[in-house]
Amino acid sequence: MRYILGETGHMSILHVLHYPDPQLRIIAEPVPEVSRDIRTLIDDMLETMYDAPGVGLAAPQVDVAKRVIVVDITEDKSKPLALVNPEIMRRQGTVQMEEGCLSVPGIYEPVERAEWIKVRALDRGGHVLDIETDGVLAVCIQHEIDHLDGKLFVDYLSELKRARIRKKMEKLRRQTM
Ligand code: NI
Repeated sequence: MRYILGETGHMSILHVLHYPDPQLRIIAEPVPEVSRDIRTLIDDMLETMYDAPGVGLAAPQVDVAKRVIVVDITEDKSKPLALVNPEIMRRQGTVQMEEGCLSVPGIYEPVERAEWIKVRALDRGGHVLDIETDGVLAVCIQHEIDHLDGKLFVDYLSELKRARIRKKMEKLRRQTM
């Protein structure tokens, strides 16, 4: 399945917030209806993710406190997936993978998550979508859903490591200001 991007005739690269921006800690609100505005948000988020480039992006990262995530773990951008109000219904096993995040640029650290998940969400068309997946996609979806609850992958690291990353990010921010 391939989404037709840019149905509204315009796509934008959105500004991605960086850790430790407090906006990244906000709990996102459920989306009552997959409206045209939400579809535009999805398209812009996909465009922003591909431009970065990244494999996932959550709405709070672009300063929108809504429960919307996009992911695509393919190299040729062939499987864009948009999940609205995603909920993990079941999880099994554990797996450790190196994770990164567009809000924490340049940092990659191993995080332990469920190996297999079953997720229920609304798709871009507003239809209920059930996904059972494992591996990289499962990890990616869990990482993005965390963002909707104000949680970042650095929260799984030791306090010492997190403090070091925070310092690095603040230095980076001063340099680019
Ligand atoms: Ni992230």
